[in-house]
Amino acid sequence: MFACSSGDIFEWASATRAPRDDSLLKANFMAQALGLLDYDAIALGEKDLAYGRAFLQDAANQHGLKFVCANAIDRTTKETIFPPYAVSERNGVRVAFIGVVSPERHITAQVESALLDHQIEIVDPTEMTMKVMDEIRAKADLVVLLSHTGIESSEYLAEDLPVDVVLVGHYPAIQHDPKEVGGAVFAMAGSKSDRFGTLELTLTEDLSEVAAFEGDAIRLLSKGPENAQINALAVESDRLDKERKKEQQLARQREREDANKLQTTAKIHQRGGVFGAESCKSCHEPVYDTWMQTPHATAFATLAEADSWDDPDCIGCHVTGVEDKTYVADVNLPPEVWNVQCEECHGSGLQHARDGSYMTSGEATCRKCHDPDNSPEFDYELYSSYGVH
Ligand code: HEC
Ligand code: HEC
Ligand code: HEC
Ligand code: HEC
Repeated sequence: MFACSSGDIFEWASATRAPRDDSLLKANFMAQALGLLDYDAIALGEKDLAYGRAFLQDAANQHGLKFVCANAIDRTTKETIFPPYAVSERNGVRVAFIGVVSPERHITAQVESALLDHQIEIVDPTEMTMKVMDEIRAKADLVVLLSHTGIESSEYLAEDLPVDVVLVGHYPAIQHDPKEVGGAVFAMAGSKSDRFGTLELTLTEDLSEVAAFEGDAIRLLSKGPENAQINALAVESDRLDKERKKEQQLARQREREDANKLQTTAKIHQRGGVFGAESCKSCHEPVYDTWMQTPHATAFATLAEADSWDDPDCIGCHVTGVEDKTYVADVNLPPEVWNVQCEECHGSGLQHARDGSYMTSGEATCRKCHDPDNSPEFDYELYSSYGVH
């Protein structure tokens, strides 16, 4: 028995020129699992090629994957980037597998530009295959074309090329009964590893031709392959994928929180560094409650009663501002700064310290407002004894 694939093993779920992290993670697991299956040859689809030569070479070396591709070449050297074909021998029968990839059909712009980035060019499959055909024929009894070009192009290739079998890739259709096209056995088994195609060939005595064939596209069990090692890989891949997604989500959340914090901080600076007494209440409720009993807590209402709430000459001493009070020029004062609040005496909540340094500055603080003009009776000892909270 021989086993092979017609390509696009690795999904390209990326809207960019590079594979996304989750695609790479899965591609690595796919390569490992594929290694366990020990295929005779794996044609490269354009999505595989988009991962780049380094990734593919690494996967091939690490997991013994036999990639074949006759028509993907290096832009500079013009050499094929993987061997065009591979030959396997079993029970005295030598089978050659040639890989070709579609030069134009259904290649997305992202895949196209990824191929460009990797200096990979896809050229004419017929011409490139014919170049090595004599060499292949000398080495093999049977020639299988792994045609990652879709159904129409594969039909043309079956007509044009002296091959015995064409296995179609790059096309989602399923065909249960292989047919004959252009003298070759023509088969396809769908996409997304839903199925695997089987093909039983009876060769003529001298092994030179296919005498009879029979095949099917068999549905794989939805729970996955019945191979403990591969199952373990699938479970591990899912676990890592979930973990990665969770981390991404947390990072996004942190980013949002940081952005919100920045925005809040910006707003606080805009209103002279004032959080507002409400924000202190949650931790200092008894102090807040007693402060509410003091005239300071209603100083803005007093102004309003005097019909001067929008008089720039008055506002400064009847509202709170720590960094500066230039905002009072704006008549639409935010309620957070109304009245003589905690931060007027303790400083901005932005600097909240818990080491005794976040205390009132004492008499000088009071005298900023309690000046002879506005508070002629002010006496620090006496006024303090009334209690600020
Ligand atoms: C330099 C700071 C400052 C400015 C400016 C200021 N006030 Fe006052 N205001 C105070 C202080 C301090 C008190 C409390 C006086 C006290 O009880 O000793 C006060 C008390 C008051 C009171 C209640 C007590 C009273 O005198 O009836 C009113 C009303 C008032 N101010 C209105 C105004 C108006 C109107 C203006 C603008 C023309 C103004 N304030 C500008 C600091 C100021
Ligand atoms: C008019 C100025 C002034 C205002 C307004 C003010 N404080 Fe004070 N605060 C003081 C002074 C003065 C002390 C006592 C300092 C000392 O004992 O050395 C103090 C002490 C404190 C203390 C430490 C001792 C204690 O009583 O627990 C806390 C906490 C405190 N204030 C929180 C607040 C909060 C919260 C608000 C607003 C709801 C507020 N303060 C409003 C001046 C003020
Ligand atoms: C998240 C809780 C929390 C919030 C909100 C908070 N504080 Fe505090 N504050 C504390 C803790 C905890 C201490 C230290 C322990 C104590 O003495 O209560 C403290 C101590 C203080 C002190 C004592 C001085 C010092 O340096 O030790 C002052 C004054 C004070 N806070 C004022 C404020 C003001 C004004 C606000 C609002 C702008 C505020 N706090 C908001 C938790 C908070
Ligand atoms: C931002 C300006 C400002 C600062 C700072 C300030 N006050 Fe006042 N204070 C006022 C205003 C305005 C009033 C009048 C409020 C009202 O009647 O509506 C007032 C009223 C008072 C009153 C009530 C007086 C009365 O006649 O009932 C006391 C007591 C007082 N302040 C003590 C203090 C002490 C003590 C300090 C310093 C630790 C201080 N204040 C800091 C603006 C200020």
